[in-house]
Amino acid sequence: MNMKRISAERAVQYIKDGMKVGLGTGSTAYWAIQKIGERVKEGLSIQAVATSKASERHAAELGIPLIPFSQIEHLDVTIDGADELDSHLQLIKGGGGALLREKIVAFHSHKLIIIADESKFVDKLGRFPLPVEVIPFAVEWTLHSLQQLGCRPQLRTDGEKLFVTDNGNYIADCQFGSIDSPTDLQKQISGIPGIVDHGLFIGLADVAVIGHSDGSVAIVERK
Ligand code: 5RP
Repeated sequence: MNMKRISAERAVQYIKDGMKVGLGTGSTAYWAIQKIGERVKEGLSIQAVATSKASERHAAELGIPLIPFSQIEHLDVTIDGADELDSHLQLIKGGGGALLREKIVAFHSHKLIIIADESKFVDKLGRFPLPVEVIPFAVEWTLHSLQQLGCRPQLRTDGEKLFVTDNGNYIADCQFGSIDSPTDLQKQISGIPGIVDHGLFIGLADVAVIGHSDGSVAIVERK
């Protein structure tokens, strides 16, 4: 049973003719883009923006109409994955390294739908190391400041080299363990110069569509 695929395909049902749609990034968002591509071939009329170069290429290959950001003010809906989510729809994102673009797109979307398999749903965020996008300049100082918040930051690598985001920055994966207050932590992280953004998405997701191993799908709405 492909839990990522069933959650993605269920979420695509929210997309209607004429909508402006944000396309997420990652292996779950992949299935949403595939399904949107199928529906476009069947006549669905939408305009889309992507949260990464990879998703943009994927959408273009499937003939999904892509529109420059300058030509739209907001999105009706964005469908994106997550690395962890809790019952308040607080998220950790950025496992694929696209957290900055994903957050910009999420912020400007009327509805953010999160798609995930059941393994991503947790009681408390923090088992997944929190991805933080950092400017390469003086990165050692930035990592030191992150460490002082109580984590073990590790610069993400891609083979022998450091991983570089679509924006030319690095990702520090920060193992915090269980996060008691994601809201407090995001304030503390945002106060460190050199940090572009982080993978805590608080108050952004509206709905989660979670795929289960028995083939069922659960819909969780933000209270
Ligand atoms: C990319 C992300 C992804 O949505 C997240 O990592 C989940 O990925 P996947 O669907 O491959 O498990 O935030 O930056």
